[in-house]
Amino acid sequence: MSMPGAFVIFGATGDLARRMLFPSLYFLDADGLLPPDLRIVGAARTAHSDAEFRKDVEGWVRERAGTFFSADAWASFAKRLFYAAGDATDPKTYATLKQKLDGASGSALFYLSTSPAFYIPIVKGLAAVGLTTRPNGVIVEKPIGKSLKTCDEINSAIAEHFDENRTFRIDHYLGKETVQNLIALRFANALFEPLWNRHSIEHVQITVAETLGVEGRFGYYDEYGATRDMVQNHLLQLLSLIAMEPPHDMRPESVRSEKVKVLRSLRPIRDSELLEMTSRGQYTGGVADGRSVPGYTQEEGGKPSNTETFVALCAHIDNWRWAGVPFYLRTGKRLPKRHSQIVIQFRDVPHSIFSGAPLMANRLTITLQPEESISFTIMNKTPTLSQGGYELQPLSLNLSLLDAFKGESRRRIAYERLLLEAISDNSTLFVRRDEAEAAWLWIDRIIEGWARTGMKPAAYPAGSWGPQSAFTLTARNDHSWYE
Ligand code: BG6
Repeated sequence: MSMPGAFVIFGATGDLARRMLFPSLYFLDADGLLPPDLRIVGAARTAHSDAEFRKDVEGWVRERAGTFFSADAWASFAKRLFYAAGDATDPKTYATLKQKLDGASGSALFYLSTSPAFYIPIVKGLAAVGLTTRPNGVIVEKPIGKSLKTCDEINSAIAEHFDENRTFRIDHYLGKETVQNLIALRFANALFEPLWNRHSIEHVQITVAETLGVEGRFGYYDEYGATRDMVQNHLLQLLSLIAMEPPHDMRPESVRSEKVKVLRSLRPIRDSELLEMTSRGQYTGGVADGRSVPGYTQEEGGKPSNTETFVALCAHIDNWRWAGVPFYLRTGKRLPKRHSQIVIQFRDVPHSIFSGAPLMANRLTITLQPEESISFTIMNKTPTLSQGGYELQPLSLNLSLLDAFKGESRRRIAYERLLLEAISDNSTLFVRRDEAEAAWLWIDRIIEGWARTGMKPAAYPAGSWGPQSAFTLTARNDHSWYE
């Protein structure tokens, strides 16, 4: 492994860089986790001197860090910062960048935090000035393409110049503490594994609900929609962590090889099944977060559109462990609450000895955000004397991760973990090329099926849980969503 001597961010004045990347690097530095000589170079179109750029970054970091801002930590972080101005399609930009990297020792990592349209020009520009030599590496943000074909084009262009094991595809959900905790929950406890299969589990639900709308990103969002923006990456990553076989160890290839097997086992949804197995919605005006909000097509920059802002899917994993177990996936904008949760619904007891007392099957609920918690619902006897035998009720064993880790004063940004892993050359938390492509293959078929069959999104009022078809999707199997 080669310690990076330079970390270059393309799109250095963009939203992601301001809100996430620079604050994350600042915190890593403040905690003494960056290589001592690491130089951080921002690259973007705006003409800026190094000093002006530092001033801007200071503002972004102060805003994000709030009371955790330290003038001393900033002073030492600022010394690492440099700026290279230029257009991503202009060869001069790369000559300027090369000068800025002169004298930096060790490898360089290039973070592409730009529109995906610039990924290929940037990689070619870097190659032209000799900046793609081994062991330099590249970090790319989602969306990597809009389909399997375009994902493959980007991946192939990157692969011409960077090794796969130095290509870090970010899915920021994998940087979330609670998502990493799924691996700990499953494989650091002996309790669940014997039950983690079709014999004991009735169904699984994965919900990522947002109250936000498209937040000024209509142009981007309208081309992608909820399925490409959220399911292809975040929800399918969660699904593969829940469904994968135990890896041999935590090495990148061990974990990622298990995840890709799950993605390849997803049963394709045929056109004739789309009405039953998928639900598409688009929000209309309504009330979200206590205020009235416009419909999707009336958002800033909006226009008439057939893009979905809500999607629910019923996925099946065709393998021995999961055959016959529905995995329901659901995500949307302008839903009633911000709430990401995974529910593992266990099966009913095979035979009840408590005549007259209804039993509720066990349920494991893993809440990822906003609060982080794990709860397990079990049936209990109610402590009353009654002549009619046992009275029972479901109660939850609750574990709040916030309470358990009270000493941890600051909630880390998911990107801190991911940037640190890339700098340390550990790819376990990044998406391998075959994973991204297997996910697109499954998603493409659904999106193309909607186009072939003319299945348009149904309207749902902002502040509701999506269109009626989302409820029939689970009800068809006698299941229902947990909210
Ligand atoms: C991004 C999507 O990847 O994830 C956004 O592009 C979405 O549309 C966001 O809002 C959700 O991330 P989080 O961390 O807020 O759940």
